[in-house]
Amino acid sequence: MKRTLYALIFTSTITSFLGCSTQEPAEQVASGGKGPKNDKIEKLIAQMTVDEKVGQLNFYVGDLFNTGPTVRTTESDKFNDLIKQGELTGLFNVHGAAYTRRLQQIAVEESRLGIPLLFGADVIHGFKTVFPIPLASAASWDMQAIEKAERVAAIESTAAGITFNFAPMVDISRDPRWGRMAEGAGEDPYLGSQVAMARVRGFQGESLSEAKTMAACVKHFAAYGAPEGGRDYNTVDMSERSLRETYLPPYKAGIDAGAATIMTSFNELNGVPASGNEFLLRDILRGEWGFKGMVVSDWQSINEMVAHGNVENIAEAASMALKAGVDMDMMGDAYLEEIPRLIEEGKFEEKHLDEAVRNVLKLKFDLGLFDDPYRYSDTARESQEIRAKQHLDVARDVAKRSIVLLKNEDHLLPLNKETGTIAVIGPLANNQADMNGTWSFFGEAQHPVTFLQGIKNVASPNTEVVYEEGCDLYDDSKDKIARAVSAARSADVVIMAVGESAVMNGEAGSRSNIQLPGIQLDLMKAVVATGKPVVAVVMSGRALDLSWLDENVASILEVWTLGSESGHAIADVLFGDYNPAGKLPVTFPRNVGQVPIYYNHKNTGRPYDGDYSEPKSERVYKSKYRDVQNTPLYPFGHGLSYSTFEYSDIRLSADTIGFDQTLKASVKVTNKGPYDGEEVVQLYVRDLVGSVTRPVKELKGFTKVMIKNGETKEVEFEITSDDLAFYTIDMTHKAEPGAFHLFIGSSSERVKQTGFYLKN
Ligand code: BGC
Repeated sequence: MKRTLYALIFTSTITSFLGCSTQEPAEQVASGGKGPKNDKIEKLIAQMTVDEKVGQLNFYVGDLFNTGPTVRTTESDKFNDLIKQGELTGLFNVHGAAYTRRLQQIAVEESRLGIPLLFGADVIHGFKTVFPIPLASAASWDMQAIEKAERVAAIESTAAGITFNFAPMVDISRDPRWGRMAEGAGEDPYLGSQVAMARVRGFQGESLSEAKTMAACVKHFAAYGAPEGGRDYNTVDMSERSLRETYLPPYKAGIDAGAATIMTSFNELNGVPASGNEFLLRDILRGEWGFKGMVVSDWQSINEMVAHGNVENIAEAASMALKAGVDMDMMGDAYLEEIPRLIEEGKFEEKHLDEAVRNVLKLKFDLGLFDDPYRYSDTARESQEIRAKQHLDVARDVAKRSIVLLKNEDHLLPLNKETGTIAVIGPLANNQADMNGTWSFFGEAQHPVTFLQGIKNVASPNTEVVYEEGCDLYDDSKDKIARAVSAARSADVVIMAVGESAVMNGEAGSRSNIQLPGIQLDLMKAVVATGKPVVAVVMSGRALDLSWLDENVASILEVWTLGSESGHAIADVLFGDYNPAGKLPVTFPRNVGQVPIYYNHKNTGRPYDGDYSEPKSERVYKSKYRDVQNTPLYPFGHGLSYSTFEYSDIRLSADTIGFDQTLKASVKVTNKGPYDGEEVVQLYVRDLVGSVTRPVKELKGFTKVMIKNGETKEVEFEITSDDLAFYTIDMTHKAEPGAFHLFIGSSSERVKQTGFYLKN
């Protein structure tokens, strides 16, 4: 989908950041195309045996071992023989310049054809410098900051040999029960698409073959974020319209930004598992979107088709997946074990195998591995660049930008650095291991700055900082609560560090209860009962039910999971060195029973917008609950600042536009003080009547503006009919003439409204 809508200010890019080259974009070589690279690939394929071809599709994880909340890989010789025999295309989640160089040497020097290995990894939010989890950085709504962080992730990972990153995850999720909400950019297709593009640009830079860039992998294709009941790996059943309108745009945006690879998903979609789904992989991905890159399965997802029940055995699964266009088999052995035999028995055409091999070899060529197989395994660079000071600075910057101020009664925040005594209480206050969060294979537990340390480092040396754990994250014992209460009593202000540990979200991290885990709410209640001013600092990988906190605590910061510089970023915000500007990329419900809840819902025939204050008889047969309001606790796009931003003078350049015309929409935003600050100005539209019903609001643009205390800035957006297009009654993607509402504001709910017509 061509996007012409953009904000007219702050369009500078960061291509020159940290010395990334500005070469031509990586050549996209179509299968069967012309050119020297294709000739080389075809010559190589002509020399390969069937076993060697299948070997190029076979991808294994390195040796794994568990260390607390993360899984690590270790060096091993167990793959040496497979590499020599050409039975492995590469390994993933292995790292280290020396180790990857040693393995590469075996492939290049000791295998018959010398085809270099690919080293893949889940660099989901940074390598050794750990950035905020993806949901957190999405909350920054700051594409430059996100791109910069991913560029650093690529610089560090490539120095350690990694060339193929299993990120970004771009799955839209409207269900906070699903633990992998933590890994995506939230609920909205427009924001999700912008973030997907920024991440791909960050990982891949200008040229794939440059030594500091790696191949991105858009995942998990498709609709993995919509499992029934929020239970990971569960069934996905949805209309093609919802699929195309809500779930597919971020994958498409990632592909359009040049992502070299894509990963299939574990789920079935409308009865067909994604890893054997021709509609997704052939018709949409390669057909409609013209994807020329490489498709990798998820972990054994080809084999899992047997359990899904659309094939009888692994042979059928392998055959179906390869024909559907899954080039690489991650951890399944399905191709390795089944395809040579099927070819020999005349049950599988070798041309499908050749097509997959071609896509894999092309990726290796594009990465420059045939020119210099060791370019990514650079011990000198590894020792200089990993956890370099400037990388940790980027981590702190992105982390503070990711924090969302949900509530700030009576301006309790920012705190004075000279506050007499601050009590820091909670199971996450002095907890290093959980700061790195889900999917931090490479981040080490001894590195992150804890909340407590950050607060001590940033507060004045005259301020006394006392700490109590208060309770455990897992154990229900209330023994430590009394000590926490007495610490609170001795303090002028209390900071409560509560929320989820790293393993409570992420893969297989679904929860049916989205309140604070364990007895943390009991701890909160006991501390709040002291009457001391309380700031809740909530760490989570999803939207939580924070209703009790909202009613009873003065200030709430949603800090997600912030990585290496967690404590510093939190302290920067608590003490006002940084004025928070993050905005929610997901709706926070009042309770789990409202889920799925999202801002861009339909109106229904019996909408209910009331707050239950009208007589019961007037609200009975409306679309609502009897025990909770329809509105969320905190809407999509919500996030406060220490300043107040006032919106005025919303204006349009015309009342009516034609299909070829551009509408300009502007608004004035005044920072009423008392601090300088950034504001994310958001633009939404509503198509009032469509051949199929349209959402009550849809995000169509945003921009982040720095506005000085007392200053007014005018923010302008452009909108064309392309931005108003949707899948009409006959599934054509186009805009329909008619009336539209246009809203600009500081969240999906706090908006100024105007309207216009689109005419033929
Ligand atoms: C996850 C993928 C990940 C892969 C390799 C799977 O379980 O779903 O997102 O890339 O493992 O670690």
